[in-house]
Amino acid sequence: MTATDRELLGADSPEDAVRVVHDHADRIFSWRYDRERPQLVTLYNKAAASQWNSVTDLDWSTAVDPERVIEDESPALRLARVAATMSGSPMANWSEKEFKQLGVELFKAQLSQFMHGEQGAMMTAAKLVETVPWMDAKYYASTQTMDEARHTEVFARYLHEKVGEAYPMSPYLQGQIFGLLEDSRWDIAYLGMQIIIESLALAAFGDLLRRTSEPLLTKLLRYIMSDEARHVAFGIVSLSEYYADLTSAELKERQEFMLENTLRSRLRSTTPEVWDRMGVSLEAVAPFMLEAAGAVGHGPFQAFQTAFFSKLVPNVRKLGLLDANHGYLRQKWGEAGLLEFEHADDTASDFASYDAVAADRARGRE
Ligand SMILES: [Fe+2]
Ligand SMILES: [Fe+2]
Repeated sequence: MTATDRELLGADSPEDAVRVVHDHADRIFSWRYDRERPQLVTLYNKAAASQWNSVTDLDWSTAVDPERVIEDESPALRLARVAATMSGSPMANWSEKEFKQLGVELFKAQLSQFMHGEQGAMMTAAKLVETVPWMDAKYYASTQTMDEARHTEVFARYLHEKVGEAYPMSPYLQGQIFGLLEDSRWDIAYLGMQIIIESLALAAFGDLLRRTSEPLLTKLLRYIMSDEARHVAFGIVSLSEYYADLTSAELKERQEFMLENTLRSRLRSTTPEVWDRMGVSLEAVAPFMLEAAGAVGHGPFQAFQTAFFSKLVPNVRKLGLLDANHGYLRQKWGEAGLLEFEHADDTASDFASYDAVAADRARGRE
């Protein structure tokens, strides 16, 4: 079957090795080679200096026991333990063995979504190389494409060599990333990837980093976060220039995009296959997980959501999207209780503080 046949059939089963996505954006060739945007020049030079090598900078001989990695339990696993104590729960007769297995499956599912998301970031950065009209941004996006290739590669290797079989990309993440790859407006790729998904990634990686002491995973996450913070800064620097010249109607479109994507993010889908592998269905478990969340007073993603919005809101403020159209987004986010983070540090100001690669190298030279 050719890729076109597969697309005509609408086939997208996990057995398919590829998925076709159509991009509606124009590719832009530029004759302006002058370096016109000093902030992007600085970021590009920083990216070139802080490249790392997945083979020589990470110690792949490290022995990893997934059951030990998850000893500091994820909020979802802790919630499952509470849900199991509720009468009628499908997990009522689980022993410690099942909870350990659930922990490992949740960990595997999380790493799998990281891996697929990194491929999405690689594709989106490559799209920006082709579609953004500014030479300095094309150069920077090229370095990001390389960064994302390395991220995809290390998550795939960590899963394959240390943890186990990957899960498929979640339909929620597919919907989000494929939408960016298809959009005709180049800035939407930036807004969806560099601003929303990469702020989300910084929060998710930071959350996992706080809960693990496994040395290979720790170093891998620190190094990936060094790159991700730069990517978010790239988005902020580029879009604050571009959005300064858009009309109110165009800005409204971007505000609507933010609203739609962030409110959907609040309802992050879980991976139903995790529960299938545990021999129970998501439908059977979900009411008990919700009841447990009510009983402990917060959902499984509470801490993560706080970390996400504390990065996202100041970044969006910096783009001018909070206050455009008489504070349309400010009002909506205010109603959702998200404005408490408005004056936290934005990532264009604090990205260098994430640079573990440079910090390690400076230490090595001492
Ligand atoms: Fe990445
Ligand atoms: Fe990234």
